[in-house]
This record gives sequence, structure tokens and C-alpha cells, in this order.
Amino acid sequence: MQRIKSLSEYFNQYEKSQSDPEGFWAEIAKSFSWIEPWKKVLESDFEKADVKWFIDGKLNITENIFERNLIENKDKTAIIWEPNNPDEDTKKMSYQELYEETCKFSNALKDIGIKKGDRIIIYMPMVPEATIAMLACARVGAVHSVVFAGFSSTSLADRIDDCESKMVITSDGNFRGNKVIPVKSVVDEALEKSNSIEKVIVLKRTNQEVNFVSGRDFWWHELVKDKSSECKAEVMDSEDMLFVLYTSGSTGKPKGVVHTTGGYMVYSAYTFLNVFQYDKDDIYWCTADVGWITGHSYIVYGPLLCGATSLMFEGVPTYPNVSRFWDIVDKHKVNQFYTAPTAIRALQAHGLEPLENNSLDSLKVIGSVGEPINEEAWHWYHDNIGKGNCPLVDTWWQTETGGIMISALAGITPNKPAHASLPLPGIIPVIVDAEGNELSGNNVQGNLFIKSPWPSILRTTYGDHERCINTYFSSYKGMYFTGDGVKRDHDGYLRILGRVDDVMNVSGHRMGTAEVENAINEHSEVIESAVVGYPHDIKGEGIYAFVIINPGSENDNIKNQITDVVRNVIGPIAKPDKIQIVSGLPKTRSGKIMRRILRKVASNDLSNMGDTSTLLNPDIVEEIIQGAIN
Ligand code: PRX
Repeated sequence: MQRIKSLSEYFNQYEKSQSDPEGFWAEIAKSFSWIEPWKKVLESDFEKADVKWFIDGKLNITENIFERNLIENKDKTAIIWEPNNPDEDTKKMSYQELYEETCKFSNALKDIGIKKGDRIIIYMPMVPEATIAMLACARVGAVHSVVFAGFSSTSLADRIDDCESKMVITSDGNFRGNKVIPVKSVVDEALEKSNSIEKVIVLKRTNQEVNFVSGRDFWWHELVKDKSSECKAEVMDSEDMLFVLYTSGSTGKPKGVVHTTGGYMVYSAYTFLNVFQYDKDDIYWCTADVGWITGHSYIVYGPLLCGATSLMFEGVPTYPNVSRFWDIVDKHKVNQFYTAPTAIRALQAHGLEPLENNSLDSLKVIGSVGEPINEEAWHWYHDNIGKGNCPLVDTWWQTETGGIMISALAGITPNKPAHASLPLPGIIPVIVDAEGNELSGNNVQGNLFIKSPWPSILRTTYGDHERCINTYFSSYKGMYFTGDGVKRDHDGYLRILGRVDDVMNVSGHRMGTAEVENAINEHSEVIESAVVGYPHDIKGEGIYAFVIINPGSENDNIKNQITDVVRNVIGPIAKPDKIQIVSGLPKTRSGKIMRRILRKVASNDLSNMGDTSTLLNPDIVEEIIQGAIN
């Protein structure tokens, strides 16, 4: 696969991707190894959310990571693993070692009864075995669904049930900063609530005592002990499912976004190579967790498909101190560093002192993902981490898009602070106003849609295709709706403005307001609640909950109890930052909560509340404002 090397080449490629999309993607896809070639490049019908790429092509994505790369890359480091505790040894795995470990674990999966198409939940810490587990699933044709290990047992059980998973792969415990998290017991709790799991594989990481159910639970190290280090890859159709990844929407429970094999492979590798301008001997580090799409596409699949060295970090940016990220960059001479604005803002708050002993001069490219990066954070990152001479790629994309959609190509596209900038080849962004008109030209703002399919567009939402059609393909005929607002400036550069639906973005994590409300409502004294996001200096958005409780049940502890319920139902990432007990919620005469008013209160923007006289209960607004001020 050729890397784009200049701005004029980018424009040429972009032009080609529009005039001949099938020819454009076919040429890129040809650089992968296919067991059988595709018969047709693309079939697409957005109205039915029916998209197929590289039709009837047969392949296995792990053969494209291993067999395709091993001749040249056998001894090259595939994964550098940096443990939570800096006193523990770093681990490096070559492509050959990763291949052998993946094959052993693949054989273990087969021996224990896993077959092509089975769904497997991975609930693990950031250790190389998480990558091995994902790749082994792909090797044997099983569908992985990685669940971020900070989610609660209820969230885990919901995901297990939704995809009717047969197996969970987990660990005895996880190290995270100075905490040791008993993840196996979270899995045990989840399994009390769900029925489909037959087997659990447990990796020893913390060596803590765990409950072990005979016949159901197996130690990883015992299963792989005598396994062969070769395992023939299952032949997969291009459109066979590779993984399901759950993500929050504006309604209901999180949905399982489905990605398939061929298109995802082509797009994740192509975008990795081009956005980060990865060079053969570079050390690349993405700080995300494999539980999110960023970890899937830009820790595991994209980099490994390109034969890159991908650094994986188990810990948190503040442990043992706030220099940790920068110490790791220097220790491993990281060339490309990819993180979220939340982490940047959190570290920025500690000033420049934590950087005093770091040179950071190995860095060539720095990247941002997951939420809008404000100008202040952009400049701090660019000036102090990139030392003013590293291109900063602000990459806009989503779980559903599978790969980066709008971004500068490092060192090629001119940087503009806080702008994701230009679409990648093959991507046609369209801006639509509130009345449904397409806005062409520059200096326009509206909702962001994408016209025409790209190879890694989601194929469905697991078990509920209607939901996929309704969520993404029904707002504007023939286009994919992103849920984001966007502005195209006078130069044609795109700036993402954030979500326009009831989805919050808290520390770069998507969280549906309805999801948090449902969790709050599980508290026995809660009558009703409404949740909105509000601007938060570090997290980007904070969670503000307005809660009505049973009369007389108010006590000193009620807010803590509500917080605990949310933690137990979803996980710590969904904890409200602020809870306000109210006696009512502003509602329209038809009973709809007026979130616009609540958002203004939560943001402390009390000027111009708009006309509230038509509300069912106009007096409540003043009461809520007074409650917020006090
Ligand atoms: O609102 C956008 C925001 O994150 C949402 C997607 O979240 P998720 O599916 O969890 O994937 C996050 C990692 C790709 C988007 O709808 N978002 C993501 N990247 C950016 C962003 N907002 C602004 N700028 C970005 N670079």
C-alpha cells in the first residue's frame, strides 16, 4: 500500500476516490492477501442500510497481519507493552512471537468448543493477551466483543445477553494506577444475571484469589500449555462479522455496532498509514483502551496490518505521577503519539513542571481523538508536547465509522487549531441545516452527514437492523447521519462542534442521557430524572442530573446513594458530576422534558431562557434556577 506523500497527491487521490470510488478502493485492497478475490467491489443501498464491500472475497485478517508480514517482519517488534507499575519489566513481542501466541490461543479456543461465528466477550486489562485474544478470535472466525473493563457487571451482562455470547475472556484482576480491580468477581456477578455463557477463560495478572467454577472457568496459561504454535486460519467471507462493539446512543441501551472483515481491514490499515504517516521503523503509541473503537482500529488492527510497532500501556496518565506519559515517550522513543483531549487538559492543569525532565524529541506526530479539542488545549499540546514542530492530527470519527474520516494527514495537510480539517479520500461530508437543506460552499454550519459508503461503515446494529436504519439512515434520504454538528470555515476546513443529539461526550466517552437516567431511576426513592451534559474544564462535558425523589426521602446521603446506583448499573465513567434534587421538571404540555432549559441551567447560562410560559409547569423553572444557584 502506497502512502500519500504530498498535498497535491492527497487532492489527486481525493478526486480519484470520488470519480471512481470502486476503482480507488479496489487498488488499495489489492495490496492485501485474499484467499479468493472479490467478484464485485461494492453494493450499497443506504435506505436499507445494506452495504457490502469486496463481495465474495475470502480472507482472514490475521493472515494479513502475520503471514503477509512475517517474511520481512518476523523479528520486528509488534507490541511494546508498558506495565501499570514502572518498576515492572516492559515486555516486547516480535511479530513471530505474537503469531505463535495467537496460534496457541486460537487452538485453545477451538479445543474448548469455539466455532466460526460464535460471539466472545473480552473483558480484560491492557495487556498483550487482550490483543492476542482479539486476534485469536479473528483467526478462528469467532466474533469478538470487547467490553471496557471499567463497565459494571450489569453493563457486562447486558452485552453478553444482547450478542448471546458463549464465552468471556477475562483476568483475575486489573492493575489501574494504585488500585487493583477485582474483575473476575465482576464477571461472576454478570454471569448470575445472564444465561448464554458456557466457558470463562481467566488470565493470571494480579495473582489475587478468585472464585473458580469447575467446568466453566479455565486458566489461560493451562489452556495454552501444550498447544501448537501453528493454527490454520479460518476462511472468512469479506462480509463475515469481525467484531461487535457496544456504544451509547440517544435512546435505549447501548447498541452493538457490527463491523465486517474485508472493508474494515482495508480502511483501518489505509487510514493508519496515511494519517500518522507511519514509517517503517517508527514506534507508535495510542493511549486508548482496547475496549473502545480507537483501541480496535489504532492499537490493534491498523498498526499490526501495517507491520508497525504498537505500544500498549496498561496504566493511567497520573500514576505514579503526572509525568508518566512523557516518561514512556522518552523511554521507548515514541514517534507517533495519539491521545484524547481530556488527557491533555488534565495534564495541562499540572503546568510544565512535570515535563522538565523529559526531552520528547523522538516525537514526529501527535494526534487527538474522541472529542473536540479546544484551542487552548490544542496550543498547549502542540507547543509543549510537539515542541511546535510536530504536526497535530485532530482525527474525527466514530465507533460506527470504523476508522478516521476527517483529519489532516500528518505533515501534509496544513494544521489549523481545533479543526479536524479535511476529509480522507473516499469520504464525502455533507452539511445539512435544520430545515434539511444541503449547505454547499464555505462558511456554513449544520449537521454532519456522509454521502456514499466507505469500506468500514457499520453494517448493522447487532440483532436489530431496523434500529440501524432508524438511527443512521433515516434523517436524510440516502445519507449516513453522524449525530454531530460541524462548521466549514472560509478555507473549507471542517471543525466538529459536538453532538447534536442526546448523547454526551464525557472524557471522550460516549454516554446517552437516557442511559444515565435509567440508571438513576433504579434508586427506589427516585420518581423521575433528567440528565444533560454541561461544559467541563477537564472532561469536555460533565454529567448534570436533575432528580425528583419521593417526598420525605431526602437525606444527607441521597446524592451519594444515587451516584452509587449509577456506578453499579453502568460503571464509574457514568457517575453524575452534579445532582440537583428538584420537585418537578420543565415539561411541554405534551409531557416532553424541555432539555434546552435544563442545559442552560446546568451550563449556568441563565440569560435568555426563552419563552417558558407555554410550559405545563412554568414556575418550576425559577425553582430549578434557584436550586442550582444555591
Ligand atoms: O462527537 C464525536 C466525537 O466522538 C463521537 C464518537 O464517539 P465514539 O464512537 O466513542 O468514538 C470515539 C473515537 C473515535 C463523535 O460522534 N469525536 C470523535 N473524534 C472527534 C470528536 N469530536 C470532535 N473532534 C474529534 N476529533
